Amino acid sequence: MGLIQELAGHPLTQQFQTLGLGTQVAIGFTTFIVLSVVLNVIGQLLPTNSNEPPLVFHWFPFIGSTVTYGMDPPTFFKENRAKFGDVFTFVLLGKKTTVAMGPSGNDFVLNGKLKDVCAEEIYTVLTTPVFGKDVVYDCPNAKLMEQKKFMKIALTTEAFRSYVPIISHEVTDYFKRCADFKGKSGVVDIPKRMAEITIFTASHALQGSIIRNKFDVSLAALYHDLDMGFTPVNFMLHWAPLPWNRKRDHAQRTVAKTYMDTIVERRAMGDADKELDMMKHLMNSTYKNGTKVPDHEVAHMMIALLMAGQHSSSSTSSWIMLRLAQYPHIMEELYQEQVKVLGADLPPLKYEDLAKLPLNQAIIKETLRLHAPIHSIMRAVKSPMPVPGTKYVIPTSHTLLAAPGVSASDPAYFPNPDAWDPHRWEVDSPNAPTIIRNAVVEDEEKIDYGYGLVSKGSASPYLPFGAGRHRCIGEHFANLQLQTIVAETVRHYKFRNVDGGNTLIGTDYASLFSRPLEPANIHYEERD
Ligand code: HEM
Ligand SMILES: *[C@@H]1O[C@H](CO)[C@@H](O)[C@H](O)[C@H]1NC(C)=O
Ligand SMILES: *[C@@H]1O[C@H](CO)[C@@H](O)[C@H](O)[C@H]1NC(C)=O
Repeated sequence: MGLIQELAGHPLTQQFQTLGLGTQVAIGFTTFIVLSVVLNVIGQLLPTNSNEPPLVFHWFPFIGSTVTYGMDPPTFFKENRAKFGDVFTFVLLGKKTTVAMGPSGNDFVLNGKLKDVCAEEIYTVLTTPVFGKDVVYDCPNAKLMEQKKFMKIALTTEAFRSYVPIISHEVTDYFKRCADFKGKSGVVDIPKRMAEITIFTASHALQGSIIRNKFDVSLAALYHDLDMGFTPVNFMLHWAPLPWNRKRDHAQRTVAKTYMDTIVERRAMGDADKELDMMKHLMNSTYKNGTKVPDHEVAHMMIALLMAGQHSSSSTSSWIMLRLAQYPHIMEELYQEQVKVLGADLPPLKYEDLAKLPLNQAIIKETLRLHAPIHSIMRAVKSPMPVPGTKYVIPTSHTLLAAPGVSASDPAYFPNPDAWDPHRWEVDSPNAPTIIRNAVVEDEEKIDYGYGLVSKGSASPYLPFGAGRHRCIGEHFANLQLQTIVAETVRHYKFRNVDGGNTLIGTDYASLFSRPLEPANIHYEERD
């Protein structure tokens, strides 16, 4: 007798058939889940292709390690690094994702060759509906390199000189009109305030005063809607006709139109327009083949730049303020540094002043070491990639992931790594980084991917702005913006934790860019 007939005649089968349909479905479904869990676990226990990196154990197929990774990526990386070493694979939403850590892992992923790794394949589903067509990850890499060149050229010393007073003024003005800072002292939820300060300062400096003024009226709310396109579930649901996606699409069209109208308006102004913002420069840029950058591309690049800068800078400035509230004596040192270097009357800040304030600079460096807003950088694998110094070959079915934040808090490179100590960036500090001093020499070799010279080697433990062809072009602007915001804030206020202690709030990893959990309240007191 065949197996099927035997099963059909089996008393258990006959019993099953007498059950209600609901129960039959429930039993069938449970059996399916149990079987797939069992097969998934057996699959992991069987000897695998020994050229593939070790796989993080997980109970459920597809879900894999998505939840443990998603709740706290740095802890997930550190725990598995302790088990497997610098290279291992985990399942993220059904996709085998290979992490490469440490300075050589950073180099492997971020300096990957164009034929081996691809960023746009991963990011485009999220970014294109938000930024719009034909820019950044919705075009060939060579075109992105040209677009980054235009952006980088716009950021001249002359432009930077004009940005410091603009930013200073925006910050001072914000403190004056913000209801939360009305009293001589009080409590304020700092990330909300920093998000606004960041958008007003960045839009004014990079996009000009016409656009800046529209943020008081309509643009802020529209950018809020655009932001909702950046939730991680949209890696899967970017296409879905859901309320937040409809709002995103409407906001993208409306914001792009606002920029395009402003471009026309500013062209008409001609020489009367004296501002040195990024938009003005992009409006007047020409691709190598002689084609002028079309207005819709300028508009879409404006959205991309504001989004890239907004989340990273506002998260960083929030962490800085929370760290200053945690350690008020450092905030006092920052104030005294300005008094000593610039004079007790504290004249208006100038671009040249920033270079004279080393502690003010170190605050940003140290905060980015422990609170880099981008915890995971991903690439699609386009051809099998042997990992140098190992037997591993990463197949094209995997995604590659770099996490430079892990090496930035590794005791091998940063003594006492969990201490937020801005003084560690002074050469004679006991906490001074052990490797950076040598790395400076190694890094001197430069390469141009099409947007200007950048360090060739990226085997560094400290890369908050990434490396290679996708490296940040906003680093110098972000530093200028953050240094100016910190210097102005220190002139106005003394911060401390609300309870007077020195605890620090946890990190929120639920959106694409990590940031402080909210509310994150601090106590402020006006300086006399
Ligand atoms: C504290 C602030 C910032 C941090 C920590 C930061 C970090 C980064 C990182 C890690 C990357 C590499 C991403 C990758 O390899 O996939 C990147 C790329 C980039 N960032 Fe920033 N960024 C900051 C501010 C800014 C600002 C203010 C702007 C604009 C003015 C900006 C514009 C860009 C652009 C255009 C790219 C290139 C993307 C690519 O080539 O794929 N960033 N940034
Ligand atoms: C010139 O190059 C740009 C950027 O790559 C591209 O968008 C455009 O279509 C090209 N124009 C022509 C006429 O080939
Ligand atoms: C635009 O670019 C051209 C040449 O690329 C230059 O001569 C001109 O001065 C620029 N105009 C502005 C307003 O920057």
